[in-house]
Amino acid sequence: MVVSEAGGRSESILQTSRYLATWIIGGVALGVSVAGFCLAYSERPLAIWGMRRKKKKGPVRVYMDGCFDMMHYGHCNALRQARALGDQLVVGVVSDAEITANKGPPVTPLHERMIMVSAVKWVDEVIPDAPYAITEDFMKKLFDEYNIDYIIHGDDPCLLPDGTDAYALAKKAGRYKQIKRTEGVSSTDIVDGGSSSGTRVSHFLPTSRRIVQFSNGKGPGQDARIVYIDGAFDLFHAGHVEILRLARGLGDFLLVGIHTDQTVSANRGAHRPIMNLHERSLSVLACRYVDEVIIGAPWEVSKDMVTTFNISLVVHGTIAEDSDFQKEKRNPYDVPSSMGILKLLESPLDITTSTIIRRIVSNHEAYQKRNERKAESERRYYEDKSFVSGD
Ligand SMILES: *[C@@H]1O[C@H](CO)[C@@H](O)[C@H](O)[C@H]1NC(C)=O
Repeated sequence: MVVSEAGGRSESILQTSRYLATWIIGGVALGVSVAGFCLAYSERPLAIWGMRRKKKKGPVRVYMDGCFDMMHYGHCNALRQARALGDQLVVGVVSDAEITANKGPPVTPLHERMIMVSAVKWVDEVIPDAPYAITEDFMKKLFDEYNIDYIIHGDDPCLLPDGTDAYALAKKAGRYKQIKRTEGVSSTDIVDGGSSSGTRVSHFLPTSRRIVQFSNGKGPGQDARIVYIDGAFDLFHAGHVEILRLARGLGDFLLVGIHTDQTVSANRGAHRPIMNLHERSLSVLACRYVDEVIIGAPWEVSKDMVTTFNISLVVHGTIAEDSDFQKEKRNPYDVPSSMGILKLLESPLDITTSTIIRRIVSNHEAYQKRNERKAESERRYYEDKSFVSGD
């Protein structure tokens, strides 16, 4: 049974929206940039910044900025790596106006992007409305007010519309570090190869390794009250984050069940999910409200599951694409419901995966242009690419 809103439309539109969404996700992705882990900068630093800094005590604070539109595991992996270069990670989220001016309108507005970035477990502070390019004024503010030690490059080859390097100033000041680009989410690969052809670069890096890097690996403590929530978590968005935040607040440990690709397709149509199980799992694992995930959770919450994981409470958001479950013959929550441990949670945000897809489709033109430019800079990146060691 197809419960998605797109279910009634023609297959070609569904295909198009899926294609578009996949493409755009990749395009926005681009993750992190270019070569070099900790590039040593040989240029003499600018006079103002270059004065030998007093060796300050306290944590090393690193700054990374980005648009983080339709955030996915490529962004999360960038933030994870940036955080590893210091003790505290401050993230600047670019304003809607600046994104629109530089790349075309974002799919997710600033308040949603703030929710997404703040929820990433490696992020310590978030600065809204960061400039697209780091100006001298803003850099001074980062160093003086925010106590930043290093600026980390966290986007695709970040050229300004006039072709200059957005991080030139920070590089000159000798306060710049680079992280390895997150391979695996790239618009050109997805566009050229398609997610089903197996040519995506993500296959370079075994997903299991990434999942290990994303996991806390900490089990629930004794007497922990375990809350369970399940879903597709496709195109992981601010609505998901907000319901996970509420769910986590109801217990001590949040266990998240992520349905298999087959289960999602069977319930929401052949065009779903847009992101595969591994990609969806990585996004959920990067969320600070999540303690553990079950990768490939069953559709129905069984008695055996409740017992095996010692689940105290099963929750479900009121805004969900499968909220028809209550009318279905086989309600996946029959067991927790009859045990009296099912709780419906009022969803704070009225966003579903379909909302995101609709926004993508309605902005098609702008994205097409934007992705053509992205494809070109990516092509250059791969041409110039040389080996760098990363973690
Ligand atoms: C199971 O969960 C309850 C809380 O709901 C807790 O008191 C109990 O200690 C847990 N059992 C085990 C074996 O961890």
